[in-house]
Amino acid sequence: MPAKSDRSLRVLVVANQKGGVGKTTTAINLGTALAAVGERVLLIDSDPQGNASTGLGIGRALRKYTLYDVLMGEKTLLEAVVKTSVPGLHLAPSDPDLSGVEMELAQDARRSFKLRDALDPLREAGDYTYVLIDCPPSLNVLTVNAMAAADAVLVPLQCEFFALEGLSQLMRTIELVRASLNPKLEIQGVVLTMYDRRNSLSSQVANDVRGHFGETVYQTVIPRNVRVSEAPSFGKPALVYDLACAGSQAYLKLAREVVLRERDRRRVLA
Ligand SMILES: Nc1ncnc2c1ncn2[C@@H]1O[C@H](COP(=O)(O)OP(=O)(O)OP(=O)(O)O)[C@@H](O)[C@H]1O
Ligand SMILES: [Mg+2]
Repeated sequence: MPAKSDRSLRVLVVANQKGGVGKTTTAINLGTALAAVGERVLLIDSDPQGNASTGLGIGRALRKYTLYDVLMGEKTLLEAVVKTSVPGLHLAPSDPDLSGVEMELAQDARRSFKLRDALDPLREAGDYTYVLIDCPPSLNVLTVNAMAAADAVLVPLQCEFFALEGLSQLMRTIELVRASLNPKLEIQGVVLTMYDRRNSLSSQVANDVRGHFGETVYQTVIPRNVRVSEAPSFGKPALVYDLACAGSQAYLKLAREVVLRERDRRRVLA
């Protein structure tokens, strides 16, 4: 691993309780793109479906410890971390057992802070510059843990008719987390996914979303691209499977925007 940096770690949670909007695809490919531009990235798979783990080629046999062990306090986060085939991109894998966490932590007063507690040592250590957390399609204890642990939320929105539906619920959850668990939680941005330029509905939805969220929406739009959807079945990020395809190139652009937003933020704070 390259030399540690003096930069503080940024923890971004990829969340939208709507299913199939591109959360995992964004977590994998943004993570890969950030690693490609020299960031040191840890992707935390916080979805019992384990799609981020599988999509990065980390099958069940390679998951010695998982986020389940970490949230249950049995293992540290670093003990669960595995390297991926992408230099600079590590993974804390998931497990179907994760779906039991809600019940198992029900009586625990710190149940919403398990991930934050697990991440604290990483903030001190400086090995990583970005942590991305892939959330399940639900506003459950896993998503709340991720939001309580994060610095900012990145919301993927699919360019389809019901894109904005359910978003007020997501925003309300972010407000609740701010009020009770994590006052510093910001919104890094909203990314439009699966944009189909042959479909006028896509551009209509994109306009609506920009009208609603203004500059919070990234300039970069992720196109619907078959190479992006094929890549996970090969256990590879799209950027590794086909770097030249439009989807991979869009994720590289998105990574640049994410990094620029972080740079601007630090400048304002300085
Ligand atoms: N840009 C894209 N072009 C084509 N297909 C895409 C694109 N982004 C995502 N997909 C496909 O859409 C489906 C849903 O994407 P993904 O798994 O990333 O969504 P998700 O929000 O993580 O889903 P879930 O809510 O189940 O976790 C997948 O089959 C994925 O391959
Ligand atoms: Mg997913």
